[in-house]
Amino acid sequence: MNDHSEVEKILHNIKKDSRVQEMKNYIQHGSVSTYEHCQRVADLSYKINKHLHLKADKESLLKGAMLHDFYLYDWHHKDNGEHDWHGYIHADIASKNAKEYLHADKKVQEIIKSHMWPLNLTKVPKSKEAWIVCVADKCISLKETLGERKKKSPGKEK
Ligand SMILES: [Fe+2]
Ligand SMILES: [Fe+2]
Repeated sequence: MNDHSEVEKILHNIKKDSRVQEMKNYIQHGSVSTYEHCQRVADLSYKINKHLHLKADKESLLKGAMLHDFYLYDWHHKDNGEHDWHGYIHADIASKNAKEYLHADKKVQEIIKSHMWPLNLTKVPKSKEAWIVCVADKCISLKETLGERKKKSPGKEK
């Protein structure tokens, strides 16, 4: 089985869920949807685990990665005051949604809850899988944010 098929197989049921599909309606960074962002974090988490031979539990790793931003709102809309706190609260909301809608187990919930460390200083990743998702999210977020800046200032780029 190639890497793509393995990721797809593990995430098949999750991705079929209509609320997970709803993440396609929300923008994460620039023009990237939250769904696409989560998919990228899942793919990178898989690669990190494979290439660094970390022997993580792939099911928990990929589910945690795909659901790490499963908070289901547009954080760019400031009309709702609570979104000012998005950075601090969305991991807990995503974890709650994952538990409620997709019966995510404790391990997956913990991966989701700690993905914003060190912003959420007390939520230190506790498992190998949580560390991988936390790092993969930082890499993908940086890439998406810088990619968007590049698009906005084409004159400055070669
Ligand atoms: Fe996040
Ligand atoms: Fe993220």
